[in-house]
Amino acid sequence: MKRIGVLTSGGDAPGMNACIRAVVRTAKYFGMEVFGIHQGYSGLINDDMVEMGMRSVSDIVQRGGTMLRTARCVEMYTVEGQKQAVKTLNDRGIEGLVVIGGDGSFRGAKCLSEEYGIPTIGIPGTIDNDLEYTDYTLGFDTAVNTCLDIINKLRDTMTSHERISVVEVMGRRCGDIALYSGIASGAEIIVVPEISYDMEDIVLRINRSRANGKHSNIIILAEGVGTSADFSKKLQSMTTYSVRGTTVGHVQRGGSPSMADRMLAAQFGNRAVRLLKDGIGNRVVGIHKNELIDMDIIEAVSMKKKFNYELYETLQMISM
Ligand code: F6P
Repeated sequence: MKRIGVLTSGGDAPGMNACIRAVVRTAKYFGMEVFGIHQGYSGLINDDMVEMGMRSVSDIVQRGGTMLRTARCVEMYTVEGQKQAVKTLNDRGIEGLVVIGGDGSFRGAKCLSEEYGIPTIGIPGTIDNDLEYTDYTLGFDTAVNTCLDIINKLRDTMTSHERISVVEVMGRRCGDIALYSGIASGAEIIVVPEISYDMEDIVLRINRSRANGKHSNIIILAEGVGTSADFSKKLQSMTTYSVRGTTVGHVQRGGSPSMADRMLAAQFGNRAVRLLKDGIGNRVVGIHKNELIDMDIIEAVSMKKKFNYELYETLQMISM
């Protein structure tokens, strides 16, 4: 394979830039041409791309966001849009594609490879950590660290006022950001979409912790359950303690990637291009048990994300 393309799609994630860099530099190492496609699949459909070289990706390893910009492209769900994307690739002589994105982006990649025969490699780039085949997605670690920074600060003021803080974090339908932020921040309670909750039980737990000498509580709420505003209102109506809601919001999608995310970015990008160079497509790369892996894209997107109940129980045992 002599000419490839790379795009970032869906919500941006810290480490996407470092990953683009790894893709471009690996491609140049092997003497391949590489095109950076702007705004995800929209750039493919509208033929918006630029040829990249070694220096195009200088000084981006540490930057959040994505230099290629990103989009959620509805046209890619239509046959017309898909055909236009394939036409652009054919007209440009681009033989293989690297797609950095989440679940929705992988469905586009699967369609290009399965239905149109374009060798495509998916790199899991999303803060949500909602893909089952890989232990971690690119951006998750940095997003959790950003949440921790905010929760630490909230802890200071909540302790001072003896309040209850309800902190809403992202993750779409997946509770991993809440789970990891909860454990790592020492939050007393987490509420995730994977496990149903009972507000009376939460009040009981708060009362028990107060009886045990704790005067403030942190509750991490995954956005898949509801908003911190609604949850706080409901909780406030059932307790005499003062409740305050905070939404971390898009802050958790930005910022300089952590060491863990930069390492994933380098390895994912490098493996993706090595596969394409060998004429291998229709795969996704990931990390499992600390080992870099790649697997069939159809198999990967069909796997249902499992929640880590053991970690959830750990939090319950050590949090009060
Ligand atoms: O998929 C990443 C993510 O940040 C989710 O956690 C969140 O639900 C969603 O994207 C937010 O999307 P938008 O940036 O369009 O508001």
